[in-house]
Amino acid sequence: IPLPADLFPGRRNSAGLDLAEADTLAATVAAVRAAGPVHAVPLTRGVVAGQGRLVVNPARPEETVGSVVEADAALVARAVEAAARAAPGWDATPVEARARMLEAWGDAIEADRDGLLALLVKEAGKTLGDAVADLREAVDFCRYYAVRARLDFAEVALPGPTGEANSLRLAGRGVYAAIAPWNFPLAIFVGQVAAALVAGNAVLAKPAPQTPLVAFRAVQLAHEAGVPADVLHFLPGGGEVGGRIVADARVAGVVFTGSTATARTIARALLADDARPLVPLIAETGGINAMIVDSTALPEQVVADVVTSAFRSAGQRCSALRLLCVQAEVSEGIIAMLKGAMDLLRVGDPADPATDVGPVIDAAAAAKLNAYRERMRGRWLHSLAVPEVGHFVAPTLIGIDAVDALDAEWFGPLLHVCAWRAGELEALVTRLNAKGYGLTMGLHSRIAGVADRVRAAAKVGNLYVNRSMIGAVVGAQPFGGEGLSGTGPKAGGPHYLPRFAVERTVSVDT
Ligand code: NAD
Ligand code: ALA
Repeated sequence: IPLPADLFPGRRNSAGLDLAEADTLAATVAAVRAAGPVHAVPLTRGVVAGQGRLVVNPARPEETVGSVVEADAALVARAVEAAARAAPGWDATPVEARARMLEAWGDAIEADRDGLLALLVKEAGKTLGDAVADLREAVDFCRYYAVRARLDFAEVALPGPTGEANSLRLAGRGVYAAIAPWNFPLAIFVGQVAAALVAGNAVLAKPAPQTPLVAFRAVQLAHEAGVPADVLHFLPGGGEVGGRIVADARVAGVVFTGSTATARTIARALLADDARPLVPLIAETGGINAMIVDSTALPEQVVADVVTSAFRSAGQRCSALRLLCVQAEVSEGIIAMLKGAMDLLRVGDPADPATDVGPVIDAAAAAKLNAYRERMRGRWLHSLAVPEVGHFVAPTLIGIDAVDALDAEWFGPLLHVCAWRAGELEALVTRLNAKGYGLTMGLHSRIAGVADRVRAAAKVGNLYVNRSMIGAVVGAQPFGGEGLSGTGPKAGGPHYLPRFAVERTVSVDT
């Protein structure tokens, strides 16, 4: 399909790191181990920092990674006030200047790589490979949204058949709230903020309470890259702080990534006051993501892609595989190979480069996942051993009788598997659609017609055929879901930025 010239503009992607290169790996491991504590405070004018609470390493809870002072109600109110004052001036700043600041931010993130990787590993429990991917995605968002903004925010002249001079342009909405999850504490946090900023909005950035430190460093780098302090405010805290931000009537837009339940709570809050202007919500939420495998699939490739999709990042990706649906004729062989591949996984400290699966984010997540895992004990097909200390959940394969038996997103390394029979493909996709989520789906089949049928029937934002189903690349695989999985806009895609803006038409009778 020929691409319109301006749909996917060229740009420089993040260079990343080659961890297969021995010197690079050794230097990165040493830098991560040597990194000192970070003390995060709200970044908005007039803050008096207090004692704060400690942030610990999920792989070694006795290790303190830093501390954070959270924003209180007075501070949130002051930040909203300052952002509302700063927004018009920021929106009037030429888009070229805003785009350059984003590019400078991306460069600064890349330059501060060692410190950020250390936080991704120690604060978020990411393996080195996952940490590098998270950092690269953050940089890619900055660069991609910069080049897109130059295209999207250029004023365009429209036809004037009646002799009028007509023009159309995008403008910022005002104050935007960016509310992020902990599982991509750099990439998603930076991506949300970058999109809202470059669209001409002042931004109130709230990280997840589990991962304030890496977000704090990212905001410091944005300020150093030239984003004015009154235009970008850092407001650490949990749901209470998020609730205060979205309840403020001066907030004109919200971009949120997290659970479907929280998205609903925010949507309700935005509609609670009849006097408040209508506020758009961009929500990216979870999914019960399935992979369909038919009898023509290549078993070795299936197994490699299943392991990556279900267990990388300890299954803590919204895109991760939760439900493997294998055609009955080949399921025994594939499950046997899958058990063998699982046995090769090393579960442990993510700072160790040999580790494949790190901890889950905190004690509460581990307790919830482990309780469910225990409830399903009679259904286990395979399970691994995990370290005794740290918030670990054993990668586990759980057999279920039918697709309908799984009705919740278990956000960890728990993979469910069930069989389907020849002739049931469309019915299977219909049942998967009926769950109401629509984020990712995988398919392994060597029959082109099968891919066409699944593509036509599946209601998902991202369909992956004959590959893993995680790791969407900015600009190439725009990411986001529908139904219970989100409001639809695709992060890292060509239609994303206008969602953060209003459109204004001017018609002048000449
Ligand atoms: P969560 O919904 O608990 O929290 C997300 C964010 O919302 C946090 O910053 C939290 O403090 C904030 N929050 C909580 N209550 C709030 C309220 N009342 N008002 C405003 N803000 C509030 O989700 P989580 O546990 O941090 O993240 C895991 C979930 O995120 C999973 O469901 C996962 O699938 C989803 N996720 C989706 C994507 C995607 O792109 N679709 C990406 C990553 C994670
Ligand atoms: N964008 C992330 C992925 O594709 C969530 O895995």
